Amino acid sequence: MSATALLLAFFLVFSTKSSLFGGVANAAPVLDIDGNEVLTGVEYYAVSIIRGAGGGGLALDEFGFGRCPLAVLQRTLDTDRGNPLTFWPVNNESVVSLSTDLNIEFVPAFSAWCRSSNTWRLDNYDPSSGKWWVTTGATKGEPGANTLTNWFRIENVSGNVYKFSFCPSVCESCISLCNDVGIYNDEDPELGKRRRLALSPQPWRFQLIKTSRVIKQVA
Ligand SMILES: *[C@@H]1O[C@H](CO)[C@@H](O)[C@H](O)[C@H]1NC(C)=O
Ligand SMILES: *[C@@H]1O[C@H](CO)[C@@H](O)[C@H](O)[C@H]1NC(C)=O
Repeated sequence: MSATALLLAFFLVFSTKSSLFGGVANAAPVLDIDGNEVLTGVEYYAVSIIRGAGGGGLALDEFGFGRCPLAVLQRTLDTDRGNPLTFWPVNNESVVSLSTDLNIEFVPAFSAWCRSSNTWRLDNYDPSSGKWWVTTGATKGEPGANTLTNWFRIENVSGNVYKFSFCPSVCESCISLCNDVGIYNDEDPELGKRRRLALSPQPWRFQLIKTSRVIKQVA
């Protein structure tokens, strides 16, 4: 084999591997409700696509005082958009793409009460409910075996409608499973009923609204 062919073979192997790392190469951009590309570090609300009884946007469990880290909830009122979110792709791209591992962070990024980050993380299996709840307190970045539970994806459902999934590929030697993220009622003896995010075969479907969007009055 000539030196050039050898170099080419090495390059092909290397580039295939790096495109597998963290998600799909050249994936389509995620779009907000207005059809604009969703940008890294820009604030969006994630709101239910079901109007009426579908509930509102996602929020931190600020009212579960004393429970740290803060859980990720869906607000019950459908007019309540919840807390803004920012997305941080593992590939550091400025546009957020489908099927790409992301850190998902609430704004504000830090909880003074819990002294931890408001970045999403998958909690340990909860045997009392049989759920894998989504919680906060993750470290951003540092893809690898130690941060496997900190990466979520946005997957396409239909035009501008998405679901979250947990399907991390930030560690080549790790075994990981893919699951969608849905919403369950968590009956807490002290805090009452809370709608919480957890791994689920029934994904929660949402749209993204830029927080700085100008609200147009519908006549
Ligand atoms: C993304 O940025 C971080 C921090 O600057 C850096 O450590 C990492 O290597 C970058 N990742 C890629 C895929 O460029
Ligand atoms: C999203 O899903 C819809 C419905 O399956 C499909 O028509 C559309 O092409 C998909 N878009 C992307 C970017 O994959």
